[in-house]
Amino acid sequence: MTRLLSIFLVPALPLFAGAQPTFHADVEPLLQKHCQQCHRPGESAPMSLLSYDEVRPWARAIQEAVALDRMPPWFADPRYGEWSNAHVLAPTEKQMILDWVESGAARGDPAKRLEPRAFVDGWNIGKPDLVLEMPEAFRVPEEGTIDYQYVVIPTGLAEDKWVTAAEVRPDNREVVHHVIAYMRPKDSVWLEDAVPGKIFVPDARKKKDREEERNEYRELLAGFAPGMQPFEWSDGNYAKMLPVGADIVLQMHYTASGEEAFDQTRVGFRFLDKPPAKRVVTMSASNGKFVIPPGADRHPVEAKWVLNRDVELVSVLPHMHLRGKDFRYDLRYPDGRSEVLLSVPKYDFEWQYVYYLRDPKVLPAGTAIDCLAHFDNSPNNPDNPDPSVEVRWGDQSWEEMMIGFFDIAVDAGADLGPYLTQAKRDSARVE
Ligand code: HEC
Repeated sequence: MTRLLSIFLVPALPLFAGAQPTFHADVEPLLQKHCQQCHRPGESAPMSLLSYDEVRPWARAIQEAVALDRMPPWFADPRYGEWSNAHVLAPTEKQMILDWVESGAARGDPAKRLEPRAFVDGWNIGKPDLVLEMPEAFRVPEEGTIDYQYVVIPTGLAEDKWVTAAEVRPDNREVVHHVIAYMRPKDSVWLEDAVPGKIFVPDARKKKDREEERNEYRELLAGFAPGMQPFEWSDGNYAKMLPVGADIVLQMHYTASGEEAFDQTRVGFRFLDKPPAKRVVTMSASNGKFVIPPGADRHPVEAKWVLNRDVELVSVLPHMHLRGKDFRYDLRYPDGRSEVLLSVPKYDFEWQYVYYLRDPKVLPAGTAIDCLAHFDNSPNNPDNPDPSVEVRWGDQSWEEMMIGFFDIAVDAGADLGPYLTQAKRDSARVE
C-alpha cells in the first residue's frame, strides 16, 4: 500500500521543491486542530500525536490514513448538509500533511514550536460545573454477556439548571462499550425499584407492559460510545434542561475483556448562568419491528416522525449496530418539497457521531423526518457477528437497532407536551 501511495503522490513533489514543509511550522498546527482531540493520552485513539517525537514514527501511517480519507474520521456524504463539527481537512491542509511526509517529515525550527493545545484535566468540555460519579465501582466479569446496568444518581441540585455541555468519562475504556446519561424527572416511574447509588438491573419481565413508563419524557444528556464526542452547544443560546429534583441515570453497557475489571464512570456538566433562548430536546424516529433475513445484503428499514409543531432542527444521530450499512434522513415538507438532510453511505458502528447542523433549520409543523437504513446481514460484511440468523431489535451488538435521533430546539419556556407527539396526518407524504 505504501508503495502504491508513493507512486500516486509523485505529482505533488514540485509543490514543496521551494520550501520544505516542517513539523513545527506547517504540520503541528494541523494536528492540533484536527487530530489531537482524539490522539492524546486517555482519549479514543491508540496513539498520542502531541509532539514531534510522538508523531515521527507514525509519519507513513499518517500519510496513508490521510490520503485515503480514513483520518480524520468522518462519514457524511459531502453532497448534503453542512455540519459544524465536520472532521475534514481542507484540500490544502491534506496536501500539506502528505507533502511533509513525502519530503522526509522534517522537524524544522523548534523555536517555531506552538504552545501546546490546552486540555482541561481530561475533560473535553472544559472544567465541569458538576461532576457525578458512580458511587461504587462495577465489577466486570472475565467473560460472558453482561446485561445493561443502571445507576441512579441524584444531582443534589437546588434549582433548574441549563446544560450547555455534558461529557461521560469512562474510567475503564477496555470494558465500557457505551454509556448513556439520562435525565430522569422527579416522580418518574422508570427504574422506580432502583436504590440511588446502587448498580441495578431491571426485571425484564416487568418491562413489557409498562405503558406509563414508555410514555414518560426523559432526556438524553450525554453519551459515550465508540467515536462519540461530548454534547456541546457553545454559543449560550441552546441548552438542555436539568430540572430540580431530577436524577441522572447512567445506562452502562459493559463488555467482558477476558480479565476481571472494574469501572467507575463519571459524567460532567457545564451549566449556563442564565436561561438560553432555546431548549434542546432529543427526539427519535425508530423502527422496532424489522426482521432482517439471514444473508440479506441490503435489507431496508424505514422510520418516520411527523412534527406536530414548528421546530428548529439542530442535530441528528443515526444509530444502528454491526449490520448497519447506510443511513439517510430525508425531510418532506408539508408543501410537497423534500430534501436529503444527511446521508451516511458507509455507516460504521465504531463511530457514533452526532451531526450538528451548521445552520439550524426551521421546520414547519407537518414536516416528516424520514429515515431509511439498510442492513448488511451477508457474510461479506466483515463485522457481521452471524450471517446465518434472522436479526431483530435488541440491546446487544449482535442484535440490531434502527433509530434516527434528532435534536430539536424550542422556546426555552415552552410546554413540551405538544412537541412529544406526532402530527396525526402525514400531510407531507406524496405517494
Ligand atoms: C474523532 C477522533 C479522531 C480524530 C479527530 C483523529 N483520529 Fe486518528 N484514530 C482515531 C482512532 C479511534 C483510531 C484507531 C481506530 C481506527 O483506526 O479507526 C485512529 C487511528 C489512526 C491511525 C492509525 C492507522 C489507521 O489509519 O487506522 C492514524 C495514522 C491516525 N489515526 C492519524 C490521524 C491523523 C493524522 C488525524 C488528524 C488529521 C487523526 N488521526 C484524527 C481517532 C481519531
